[in-house]
Amino acid sequence: MVLRGRVNTIGFAQELFAHRPISHVGLGADHIYALSDPDLIWESFAGMDAITTRTRLWQRARVVFGNGLFMSEGAEHRRNRALVQPTFSPRRIRSYADQMVDAAESLDRRWQHAYARGRTDINIGSEMSAITLDVVGRTLFGVDLIRQAPDIAEAVTRLLTVFRMTVSPIGDLLVRVPSPARTNALAALTRLDEVVDRAIADKRAQLAAGTSADDMLSVLIEARDPQTGQGMSDAQIRDEVTTIILAGHETTATALSWTLLELANNPEVLLRAQREWDSFGADHRFSFGDYRSLPYTQALLHESIRRHPPVWLLGRRVTEDVELGGYEIPAGSGLLACQLFMHNDPTHWRAPTRFDPTRWLDDDGAFDERNARPHPGAFFPFGFASRRCLGDRFALLEGALLLASIGRDWHVVPSRPGVVRPATSITMRPDNGIPARLAPRR
Ligand code: HEM
Repeated sequence: MVLRGRVNTIGFAQELFAHRPISHVGLGADHIYALSDPDLIWESFAGMDAITTRTRLWQRARVVFGNGLFMSEGAEHRRNRALVQPTFSPRRIRSYADQMVDAAESLDRRWQHAYARGRTDINIGSEMSAITLDVVGRTLFGVDLIRQAPDIAEAVTRLLTVFRMTVSPIGDLLVRVPSPARTNALAALTRLDEVVDRAIADKRAQLAAGTSADDMLSVLIEARDPQTGQGMSDAQIRDEVTTIILAGHETTATALSWTLLELANNPEVLLRAQREWDSFGADHRFSFGDYRSLPYTQALLHESIRRHPPVWLLGRRVTEDVELGGYEIPAGSGLLACQLFMHNDPTHWRAPTRFDPTRWLDDDGAFDERNARPHPGAFFPFGFASRRCLGDRFALLEGALLLASIGRDWHVVPSRPGVVRPATSITMRPDNGIPARLAPRR
């Protein structure tokens, strides 16, 4: 499978993770250890944070992310993370809710327009990608990226292709060898850099003129290292912006796409979700305050992320010799943990193949993650420790508000719901994005 370039596939992962609690593959001089025991996963990914780095596969993605959070390591990563973190403080996230709902309303207008002209066919993956990109644009820059800056939207879409290319099994070659795809990709990167540089310059001028804004870019520009009082350079801000755009866009789009598919495949789940959304009234505009009153929607999203984790495989490289579960792991080895495998493992989950949001609810119907009692090493959609997703609360709020707004007003009916296969790179998307038909609910 390695020789056939199938390392990044579910089939390869299944082979590896079937051997408990740990299995080993030698790839030339490299050693890779696949962990399928939650205690070992927790012990290494959470507990050995200080002596692990990104894998070599990820190093290739530097061409896309520059020196943003995804790529930096050690003290530099800690410093940068502390600078970026305020962008995702609870107060800030609260303030992004309005922009998330603005994006949902813009999608609703677009769909109504199309529906009125008899255009009812959509592709769920593309639509969800467009709306999450819209949310990222509005929250980062304070603008409707798709309408006001279609070139950024275009550059980001192209960049996603480069990103998938770099982390594919033959990514090393694709990144180095000249090809039309590589030329297009580099042009997209340059274009995005130019646009983001201009946005930074404009925002700095606005802030200098005393105009305050509530977007992420302003927070990044104003962030200061508490020890040195220093802010980030424009180049660093640009890398963090690119990282946030790419990290926050496809992952959430993927989660929403799988959720819409599961709703179509589970009519009783759809009915209960619709009851929750309808209880707000047809003309209600959803807001941050509604999040707590959407327990079933929160449970639905968690169940979707459990069954179909958008990030499905995590890797680390140990920088020292370590011992794990009685095995000696030499410095330089790779460790793998697979969300897809652990989230669906019958040893840790009751009826794991059943799509059942109620496992996340307590007896009073309130959302409570502890109700499903996941071992932290058996449920890790957002990763671990110092590398844990910075946008987790952002994504859950966004997911709930978008699902409620879209689901209250529209039936989204996949054309062939039974035959959707996952396509894997860093994320696990529905292959071909799920063709579907739209119908208004009222
Ligand atoms: C359902 C949606 C999402 C999922 C499943 C997800 C998952 C993850 C995972 C697993 C990691 C850690 C990767 C690793 O350890 O190698 C991560 C990191 C990250 N995520 Fe997310 N993510 C989601 C949404 C978002 C959003 C909406 C944003 C921002 C708007 C975001 C920003 C980030 C950033 C900046 C990091 C890097 C953290 C660091 O290395 O310090 N993510 N995400």
